[in-house]
Amino acid sequence: MQPTLIDFNIHGDDRGSLIALEQHKDIPFDVKRVYYIFDTKADVRRGFHAHKHLEQVAVCIKGACTFKLDDGKSQQHIRLDTPSRGLYIGNSVWREMYDFTENCVLLVMASNLYDESDYIRNYNDFITQVS
Ligand code: TYD
Repeated sequence: MQPTLIDFNIHGDDRGSLIALEQHKDIPFDVKRVYYIFDTKADVRRGFHAHKHLEQVAVCIKGACTFKLDDGKSQQHIRLDTPSRGLYIGNSVWREMYDFTENCVLLVMASNLYDESDYIRNYNDFITQVS
């Protein structure tokens, strides 16, 4: 599945807004892990990896950041700047995150537990595997 933006339903009223995310309803997989990135330093760039077998949905629940996604054939840059939109990223997509706003909180839901052996951290290895 290609990287896709998912718009979440906002339960808003005069008290404010609430978004609820359920696996297989709003998130297209079993959510086995949640992590978040915050307090990013100025001009930092993170990521620089792909996964062999992992699906993720990333949401900027505060602030904004940009994803560079690369499937080995083409690249795209996607700005996440609202808590009501998630970015689905499947297997074999090289990702880098940059242009974090100072207040950014980037929440990521993942289909599996943390497993370093699932990472491809070398770009040339990634290109070889997707070719
Ligand atoms: P890292 O993969 O370098 O983050 P990024 O993809 O944003 O560049 O992860 C930073 C550290 O956190 C590294 O020591 C691995 C650890 N980590 C976990 O322990 N569990 C996790 O779920 C994740 C994503 C990272």
